[in-house]
Amino acid sequence: MPSPPRLVTVTSDNVEDACALRVRPDQDGLVKPVAWSLAQAYASPETAWPRLIVDDERIVGFVMAFLDVRFHPGEPDDRPRSGLWRLDIAAGQQTRGYGRFAVEAVNDELRRRGQTRTTVSYVPGEHGPERFYRKLGFRATGELSGDQVVAELELTDGSARIRIPARSSRQVECGRPGLSASRGNSLVTAATATASAGRASGWSSRSR
Ligand SMILES: CC(C)(COP(=O)(O)OP(=O)(O)OC[C@H]1O[C@@H](n2cnc3c(N)ncnc32)[C@H](O)[C@@H]1OP(=O)(O)O)[C@@H](O)C(=O)NCCC(=O)NCCS
Repeated sequence: MPSPPRLVTVTSDNVEDACALRVRPDQDGLVKPVAWSLAQAYASPETAWPRLIVDDERIVGFVMAFLDVRFHPGEPDDRPRSGLWRLDIAAGQQTRGYGRFAVEAVNDELRRRGQTRTTVSYVPGEHGPERFYRKLGFRATGELSGDQVVAELELTDGSARIRIPARSSRQVECGRPGLSASRGNSLVTAATATASAGRASGWSSRSR
């Protein structure tokens, strides 16, 4: 029986392989390169939660969560959000369930931190990830972040986890090259927590 994929931290041993990860050429405009994401994680360690998606010792993808980001600071109904900042599945590894695994692993991490909702923003259009996120239950909120669609998923079973208090602010851009939120994203961030490996709640032993 195949073992499930897992999330691992980026280390000096795997960082070069991580930076070599590529999505399909026609998807290059949808997401920043991994090296760019890791630079942002380096600059915002309390906000970013970057992980490699590894299966059978192969790096098959990269995911980075954001933690407690305010999309519209200063607006009365604004709230800190957490969710998917980056998700890249390697060109030859797509449609095998790794994207779903990574989203579910991030959801688990957010539940562990006491969150009840996951947010993502993505480039709309035929070749973008909209149908992928819809399939996983995300629904558009009606907001735009720059020219990206904002969508959210309610997380169930989040009540038992301990909330990590917010403690600082930063700036972030979401999604694809050059994008920033329409009204500027400032962040209210969570304390840096030792990140545990994500766990696939829905991983099945489909052909990989
Ligand atoms: C979008 C992406 C992350 C999906 O990852 P993946 O590993 O190929 O997706 P999965 O195999 O886990 O698919 C999960 C489900 O979504 C469906 N799905 C995935 N991509 C889809 C698409 N483009 N259109 C419609 N359905 C899609 C799958 O068929 C699967 O459905 P099933 O469970 O009924 O079989 C991947 O294609 C990718 O890295 N794209 C380029 C970068 C990008 O757009 N990232 C998102 C930035 S916000």
